[in-house]
Amino acid sequence: MSEILIKGGNRLTGKISVQGAKNSVLPVLAATVLCGDRCVIHNCPTLSDVETSVKIIRNLGCGCEKTGNTVTVDSREITSFEIPDDLMREMRSSVVFLGAVIGRMGKAYISSPGGCELGPRPIDLHLSALKHMGVTVTEEHGYLHCTAEQGLHGAEIHLTFPSVGATENIILAAATAKGNTTIHNAAKEPEISDLADFLNSAGARIYGSGSDTIQIYGVEKLHGAEHAIIPDRIAAATYMACAAVTGGKITLENVMPPHMVSILWFFKECGCETEISGKSVTVSAPERLCRVPTVRSLVYPGFPTDAGPIALAVLCLAEGTSVFVENIFENRFRYTDELKRFGAQVKTQGKIAVVEGRPALSAADCACTDLRGGAALVIAALAADGVSTIKEIHHIERGYDDIVGNLRTLGADIQEQ
Ligand code: EPZ
Repeated sequence: MSEILIKGGNRLTGKISVQGAKNSVLPVLAATVLCGDRCVIHNCPTLSDVETSVKIIRNLGCGCEKTGNTVTVDSREITSFEIPDDLMREMRSSVVFLGAVIGRMGKAYISSPGGCELGPRPIDLHLSALKHMGVTVTEEHGYLHCTAEQGLHGAEIHLTFPSVGATENIILAAATAKGNTTIHNAAKEPEISDLADFLNSAGARIYGSGSDTIQIYGVEKLHGAEHAIIPDRIAAATYMACAAVTGGKITLENVMPPHMVSILWFFKECGCETEISGKSVTVSAPERLCRVPTVRSLVYPGFPTDAGPIALAVLCLAEGTSVFVENIFENRFRYTDELKRFGAQVKTQGKIAVVEGRPALSAADCACTDLRGGAALVIAALAADGVSTIKEIHHIERGYDDIVGNLRTLGADIQEQ
């Protein structure tokens, strides 16, 4: 298993282009299965989660090729409605294929997506919505048999929590269902709008994405489409944090500033200067980062939970004490034990983390516990005195396209071995 070595202390400068959004490319690839035609998806990042999605699509009997950052899917032929256990275990967010496969095949057979490093990842909201759309769900031996005997039909759905995945699965199931579907209290994340934009370009009729009420008018059939995935706002936040903790100044190209308002606000609160110019943002670090009294993770447009570990790593070097409140996942602080190996002063209790900023961190040997927690360790290592080793980097490879190459371009002393 490879690991990352970082000799901290280099001031990051220069320019890189930000990858396509992991949390958009996964549902959009699932949606290509629904189209029953050839689709071309651009700006797809090279991630292990994307590789798994390609395997799932091929396992369904569709053609799927990734060349560079473009994925071509030919879903005219589809021969299976099953997502095997090994692929579900490889990527728990495979559950986003559920709505698309039922929409296309009238049934789906998936292994129950287990929990993950962030805690139990229930899908009760997904399943209760699908049941209202005519799906029968039976569970045996850890597998979910989902069948729409009479076909999928539209429904009026209220989500008790604006779940991103549940909103996506409902949209996918409703796109070609009989009749109309309304989702109340829908998730408003930009990735939902990217999915709706792709489906509408394939002939769907989806209105209101990005708001908390989404209307989907079921259509008979979809057709192929070409689409470019939106930039990854969490990857952008990660590189901004790398600059912030090294006293650097970097420019990120191919970002969508309107998707990053809460993230840009956080870096300004820490004392960074940010300058937006079209689809690029330049961030300059202050002499010493300022504490942020309280940062709360919330659903969009609040501060994203996925940027929580990234923000917390920055606050470890700020002057003063900051408080981070994690409101979305139950167990998102596992990485902080690894962060403490760098000398970070972090205390966690329940959903609260209290960070006492330090003027400097010291190099450490550590291991990733999850994707964004792994990013936090990279940020700490870039600021630390000495050479750090980061193990279990498969977590990082799930969500970052060539983070080592990008950071080296910005002047980091970093290598993978
Ligand atoms: C998506 O996960 C993202 N994953 C997550 O990114 C992100 O953290 C999350 O949205 C919140 O923004 C992808 O898009 C592939 P949720 P998802 O359903 O859909 C509870 C990353 O590292 N819940 O909005 O699983 C759930 O337990 C990943 O990039 C239910 O209780 O998130 C959690 O506490 C991590 N029942 C909360 O809602 C359900 O049926 C948010 O979950 C569904 C969710």
